[in-house]
Amino acid sequence: MAIHFESLDSDIAGRIGKLTVGNKTIRTPALLPVINPHLQIIKPSEMKTMGIEALITNAYIINQSLRYHDQALNEGLHAMLDFDGVIMTDSGSFQLSVYGDVSVTNLETLTFQKDIKSDIWVPLDIPSPPTADKVSAERDLLITIDRLREAMNTFGDEAPVAGPIQGGIYLDLRERAGKELGALGFSFCPIGAVVPLMEAYRYQDLVRVVMAVKKNLPLATCVHLFGAGHPAMFALATAMGCDLFDSAAYALYAKEGRYLTVHGSYKLDELTELPCSCNVCRSHSKEDLNTSDQRERLLALHNLNITLAEICRIRQAIIEGTLWELVDERCRSHPKLLSGYQELLNYSNELETHDRISKRRFFYRGDESCLRTEVIRYQKTLSRLRLGDNALVSFNGRTRQGFDNTLLFKPPFGPYPRELKETFPIGQSEIPEWDETMVRQGCIGIRNLINTHLKSRVAVSCNPRWIPIVKSELPDIEVFNDPD
Ligand code: GUN
Ligand code: ZN
Repeated sequence: MAIHFESLDSDIAGRIGKLTVGNKTIRTPALLPVINPHLQIIKPSEMKTMGIEALITNAYIINQSLRYHDQALNEGLHAMLDFDGVIMTDSGSFQLSVYGDVSVTNLETLTFQKDIKSDIWVPLDIPSPPTADKVSAERDLLITIDRLREAMNTFGDEAPVAGPIQGGIYLDLRERAGKELGALGFSFCPIGAVVPLMEAYRYQDLVRVVMAVKKNLPLATCVHLFGAGHPAMFALATAMGCDLFDSAAYALYAKEGRYLTVHGSYKLDELTELPCSCNVCRSHSKEDLNTSDQRERLLALHNLNITLAEICRIRQAIIEGTLWELVDERCRSHPKLLSGYQELLNYSNELETHDRISKRRFFYRGDESCLRTEVIRYQKTLSRLRLGDNALVSFNGRTRQGFDNTLLFKPPFGPYPRELKETFPIGQSEIPEWDETMVRQGCIGIRNLINTHLKSRVAVSCNPRWIPIVKSELPDIEVFNDPD
């Protein structure tokens, strides 16, 4: 496959990667702005100066265009758009999903994408809407997979063909699609038909769908979340292992007079200030912006600026190992995003297997933090601790006669030996005053310790406040009352 992806750094299941297409390389996570050749509100050459390395345009629109069809074939896309980075072309599938029919076949669109010298070609996949019943979602998926096979057989397995993943809202179909496309050798897979989920704020379903796709896809597959353009959800999607986003939002929102922020969007009329540090917002007052004859373009520039800044913030978070903190922060901006985040935490067991060993820090930010991968990972490692015959888990650190080993306790992780005091996550975690939820989670750590050291006697000593909680989590354990 002419598309190659390499992960350089990771946090949760998110990664900083290098996507190589032919002789071009881009850094991921990346945003591919959507370019409609007829409405180039920001020129691709200008995007290049903003640090954009790749963009996506629509082969179907170009093919139908009286103005651009011949130019694209004669000059190639890169000259036509004046952009020498990576250009991905979408087929007519999105139009298919909106209008129900397109007058192009799979091989016709792929041949056209090849002829206009697109860097990444998308076959004519069939997006199944969330309302599709299972029989039709399965039929759409099987046709899509046939078309991907047809693409490979026709153009060879070195052709830069993307493998869109369909399957509607049916998780077993999404899992199957991931497995089959991985086996066919697709190294670049966009997850399709998720736009209606995002438009309806169905982030919980989105998390389930993406996690189902990721389950069977090889790790070396670059994953593109088709149509994800709102920066508030990039951190969540990245944490699941999505590497690319494409945004028409910057332009669509601008057209409607909407101002994007990482917490949501505003109608320009709702703002009195422009709360952003980009050059548009610092060189205009809200009134200037609102009355400017360049209003739409300026808004689009701001929208793109903040979207790009969020991508940079996500990359920085991955490098530091603070992506969970960023996900937590972003997902608190909307209750539906919070549900998506809570759903993702249900997958911590799987995510833990991808998570890195050590991080810059762990900031406890509320009940959700109890289920983070670092907590699950730490509690799994307790099985490897050497305990001795009599071990005391002491909440306040005091030892007691009759015990040859005293462990300390830090919620939400659980028991730890003194030697681990400075190591991750015990040493790098900041937690507020203990509360019931985190102590209960810490007790799960004690339970893991007991279950994996059946020959040792394990007891707890703690302040009377915690005794009922410890006893309810660990009914059979010996508990000593030890007031602070
Ligand atoms: N753009 C947004 N969703 C989709 C999809 O499912 N398939 C294709 N080809 N393009 C899309
Ligand atoms: Zn701005």
